[in-house]
Amino acid sequence: MNLASPSVTLPSTTLPSTTLEYSPEVAVRMAPLYDRVRTVIPAIEWPVHAPLIDRIQQLKKERNAVILAHNYQTPEIFHGVADLAGDSLALARQAAETHAEVIVLCGVHFMAETAAILNPEKTILIPDLEAGCSLADSITAADVRLLKQRYPGVPVVTYVNTSAAVKAETDICCTSANAVEVVESLGVERVLFLPDQYLGRYVASQTEVELILWHGSCEVHERFTPEQVRSFRQGHEELIVLAHPECPPNVLAEADYVGSTSGMIGYVGERKPRNVVMITECSMSDNVAVEHPEVNFIRPCNLCPHMKRITLAKILRSLETLEPRVRVDAAVARRARRSVERMLAVG
Ligand code: 13P
Ligand code: SF4
Repeated sequence: MNLASPSVTLPSTTLPSTTLEYSPEVAVRMAPLYDRVRTVIPAIEWPVHAPLIDRIQQLKKERNAVILAHNYQTPEIFHGVADLAGDSLALARQAAETHAEVIVLCGVHFMAETAAILNPEKTILIPDLEAGCSLADSITAADVRLLKQRYPGVPVVTYVNTSAAVKAETDICCTSANAVEVVESLGVERVLFLPDQYLGRYVASQTEVELILWHGSCEVHERFTPEQVRSFRQGHEELIVLAHPECPPNVLAEADYVGSTSGMIGYVGERKPRNVVMITECSMSDNVAVEHPEVNFIRPCNLCPHMKRITLAKILRSLETLEPRVRVDAAVARRARRSVERMLAVG
């Protein structure tokens, strides 16, 4: 790559207040990072990303900020600016443990709310407040109250992909990484399991506990089909299929491994399959491929439009302005914190 490439004009709608240039100095500072990510970020894009990454890295230090990024963030965020990248469980744990004054949550709104619930005294930023989630939108606190009336005494287990108000009505939260453990930790015969019907069906297949389900689903994972998975297998020898439990049961039936996003990353790291496909959001394979050049990734692309609202330009603007902030009403946060902390104590 030509290190002396001219500066790039960013679109005015996303332009941060500082003028950023792909100067020779920036190019040199960012060269080791580009060497790592060159297989997933085309050379033509790098002069746009590099000055933003450079400035974000400086600003993080000035603000005593930490950037937590979900595994579905794009490679320039995941590898370029994140202090920690992980699944929902890891992000919640890090949010609970960090000493930074400012947390920038590069993910969707419920993840930033979870960070705010655990850190009422800290500044929690999400670079785009509109980054939502179809699962979180599928259920309200009023729905949960009605369900509790209908099933008195049955404990409520809620996926973290929900609003703070829903978490406040909940006995205990779970993520895709610990759902079976959480359900079994209650020592009861039946639970209300909300709101993902597909994660619920998967958990039900792994435990004796009876699950009463809601009808929520993830708009990204429900689009995968078993026919698609079979067609990937036809084209590739010894293909290992890893699937997220938000996929429908007939898709999971075609998989060699079912687990959270970090579970899938762990599988690739430990077993190093020759050919692998991750039945989940697009950016996962790009992010993991950087660490495992020896593994061949088949890359179907179902994109989460909410995760993709987060961009480097918006992260920079957030750090510059300390906005938009995620605030949770104190009474709601207190009740929601119980259910998140109870989950963190389980595993
Ligand atoms: P993980 O907790 O497995 O990262 O999943 C979160 C999510 O939103 C998946 O769609
Ligand atoms: Fe929500 Fe699905 Fe996007 Fe995850 S991938 S944030 S569950 S819509």
